[in-house]
Amino acid sequence: MTDSQWNAVDAYFTEHLSPNDEALSAAVDASRVAGLPDIAVAANQGKLLHLLAAAQGARKILEIGTLGGYSTIWLGRALPADGRLVSLEYNPGNADVARANISRAGLDKIVEVRTGAALDSLARLEGEGAGPFDFFFIDADKVNNPNYVEWAVKLGRPGSLIVVDNVVRGGEVADGSSEDEAVRATRRMVELVGEHPRLSATAVQTVGARGYDGFLLARVLD
Ligand code: SAH
Ligand code: DHB
Ligand code: MG
Repeated sequence: MTDSQWNAVDAYFTEHLSPNDEALSAAVDASRVAGLPDIAVAANQGKLLHLLAAAQGARKILEIGTLGGYSTIWLGRALPADGRLVSLEYNPGNADVARANISRAGLDKIVEVRTGAALDSLARLEGEGAGPFDFFFIDADKVNNPNYVEWAVKLGRPGSLIVVDNVVRGGEVADGSSEDEAVRATRRMVELVGEHPRLSATAVQTVGARGYDGFLLARVLD
């Protein structure tokens, strides 16, 4: 199996099941023009997030790592008109691009992009009593993933779903002797989740337009 096969299959699935509409295409274009890195989820992954949030009946979603708001739009579209999505982004330039993209998608009434280091924003959200959130998408700096999962449990409720992106690290996640900080933090996160009395979880490897990677999914228990 080659990357070109993975791309062809992703293109086929995406064409028939999860094509970018005008707002999503505009978000991709505006993000590229603004010089944002090409690291948003693929269209079929965005649709997966959308379906998971919809299946969850989510009314409140928390995303950590906005970039240009591409995944944000897929997730925001799973919410009812009185739903709420808060997306946390460190880089103010990225947040500006995202806000414009989200507004073009007609989601500015229900989506709020907050700038700052996510750990600070999470503490502030707790102080505001902003939770409980029904769905979490964790996709920011990988070294903080153990902290982000702990926060998700704190800001969630029994039944909340937590999705963590990019957990495979090119396969290095299986290497206990890796000195890569993102790998080490991913392993700490996986092991923390596995031992957590309030989480039931799995992780799945993926291939496609975004290469070889994977998601971790965890459900918050009573
Ligand atoms: N979820 C997006 C991609 C996010 S890329 C999508 O799929 O469309 C990761 C983002 O996390 C980047 O925009 C980066 O600026 C942001 N980020 C990195 N460290 C962060 C931190 N400490 N707090 C909040 N955001 C952070
Ligand atoms: C990177 C970050 C992501 O969230 C992603 O999906 C792919 C790559 C990165 O920082 O390189
Ligand atoms: Mg990611």
